[in-house]
This record gives sequence, C-alpha cells and structure tokens, in this order.
Amino acid sequence: MSDRIDQLREDFRRESGEVTGEQEATALRDRWVGRKSGLLTAEMKTLGRLSPEDRRLTGQLLNHLKEEIEQELELLESRFAAARELAQLASEQIDVTLPGRHLPAGHLHPITLLRQRIEDIFVSMGYHIEDGPEIETDFYNFDALNIPAIHPARSRQDTFYITGKLALRSQTSTVQIHSMQRRQPPLRVIAPGRVFRRDTPDATHNPMFYQVEGLLVERGITLGDLKGTIEEFVRRMFGPQTRTRFRPSYFPFVEPGAEIDYSCFKCGGTGCRVCKGSGWIEMGGSGMVHPNVLRGVGIDPDEYTGFAFGLGLDRLCALMYGLDDIRLLYENDIRFLEQFR
Ligand code: PHE
Repeated sequence: MSDRIDQLREDFRRESGEVTGEQEATALRDRWVGRKSGLLTAEMKTLGRLSPEDRRLTGQLLNHLKEEIEQELELLESRFAAARELAQLASEQIDVTLPGRHLPAGHLHPITLLRQRIEDIFVSMGYHIEDGPEIETDFYNFDALNIPAIHPARSRQDTFYITGKLALRSQTSTVQIHSMQRRQPPLRVIAPGRVFRRDTPDATHNPMFYQVEGLLVERGITLGDLKGTIEEFVRRMFGPQTRTRFRPSYFPFVEPGAEIDYSCFKCGGTGCRVCKGSGWIEMGGSGMVHPNVLRGVGIDPDEYTGFAFGLGLDRLCALMYGLDDIRLLYENDIRFLEQFR
C-alpha cells in the first residue's frame, strides 16, 4: 500500500512540476483533491474496504500525502497570483511626469469686470444695485423724465420703437423712476445696464452699449454732494491724483445739469493719445434731479433733493484697454476676449 502512496506522490510531483500558469494550477487542484472526482479523494474512499489496522496506517499515510499536496498547491497558487498582480501593476503604470491636460476655463467679459469695479466702489459708499427693464413705455422713457413731447430724443431716428408706445430704453435714467416708485427716500441706487440707440456702428459707436446710472435722494442734498461723490469715485477708480471738472450742460431730468470730465488716467492731464491731447476724459452726464421728476413720482421737492449721474462703460473700457474699436467688445472673438482673464 505504501508503494501505491509513493507512486501517487511521485505522480503529483511530476504533474505539479509541469504547471506553468494559474489555470493549470486550479486544474491540478481539481484533479487531485477536488471534492467529487479528486484522485486523492477517491483514494480516501477506498479506506472503508480495508481491515481496521490497515485502515489506520493507510489513513495516516494518505492524510500526510494530502497535507503535502495541499501545501504544494498553495505554494503554486500564490506564486502565480503574485505574478498576475505584478503584471497588472505594470500594465496600469502611469507616467506622472507627462504634462497634464489643459482644461480651458471661462472668464468674465471686460465690460463685466469694469462694471463690477464700479459697483464695488458705490456699494462701499452705501448704494445698492438695482435693475430695470430694457423695454419701456413712453412714460418711463420720456414723460417721467421730464422729456417734452417735442423733444428730439423722442424721434424715431434715435430710439428703437417696438410699437407706438413701447421702445428699447436709450438710457438707464429710466431706472431712476422705477427706483423712486419702488421705495421712499433716503435712496442710494446704482443701476448698470444695456441701452439702445439707433446709431450707425463705427469705431466709437455701437447701437447697444452699457451705462451705469447713479441716483441719490435725501434731505438737504446739494450740488456739492454730487461733486464730492464723483470726485471720490474717480479717485478710487483711477488713483488719488485724479481731478474732476463739471461743465454746465442740459438734460431734461436734471437742473442744473453738467457733463463730468476727469483728468486723463494715462498722462495725468498733460495731454496724450488717450485724451486726444486735452488732458481730460469725458465721463458722462449728471445733475440735480429736476423737481418735476420728483413730483412725478410723488416725492416733495421742497423736502427732498437729489442728484443723478450716468456713465458710459464702453468708451471707458476702450480707453482703459487701448482698444481702437468698441465693436470688438461684442464680436465674441475668443482671441480678443481671452486677453482679459
Ligand atoms: N442719461 C444721460 C445720458 O445718457 C446721462 C445722465 C444721467 C445725465 C443722469 C444726467 C443725469 O446721456
């Protein structure tokens, strides 16, 4: 009997020596110790036919062989598993020195960047930001702003009419009226937005452009408050050395009215290409809110006074960035826009 066991051992050793892969190792395990048809399992089943003495002895030898076989199988299996793991690691290796992939990120439009800078300055002075419709009735576009029916600004040559009474707003001053209707003074409002005029597009004109409107209505407000506010704004915007000047001008919704200029941020006032040699840059219109406008929204002009101003963003943007054509701002050419990140 022990001869037979020696033979089995020898067979197993020979077969295990020929195993070259993980699958073959599994097959070898099935063939020898598989629960149903394993060679050794079958051998164990013959024990019942032996005499009790032989059964004990052969049982011991068989158990011993089984242990040997199990050990050898485990050794084989772990060797192949380790090899498989190594191969997998090698195939999944990444070269961390390769350059990364560039994911293009979006960024803000130059007009938006400029608008935010202006908003920040006024918000820090206690103003809050308001919005108004881009399509307005004659009331908001003209009547409430004290623009008489015969005023040239009402003409179809300047304004985009949608119907007889509805038109695209041609200035953000319309938001003054909405703000004063929405709340009672004291009021400090800043209203940035798009406006529309029937201008022929050229390097300095676009039929759509941006304005920022300012409105302050409180008790005892004077022209001095308007000048002080604008001076503070231009200093924060362009530097503490920036000077301001007011030129008398006419806007129907203010009295008195003035154009605001500030000393050129490029040359400081000596004259250069940016300010076309004058030393000054035009900023926009301003003035003390006309009593008719206050009355029209139910505010008593004997109790409250206020000032308003309106700045254009597009030409300012063009001057600050040295653009020779404001239409560049609206062509959505990514090569242009990418320069403002
Ligand atoms: N709305 C005027 C314009 O578009 C500017 C302005 C605003 C003037 C407020 C006076 C007061 O030219």
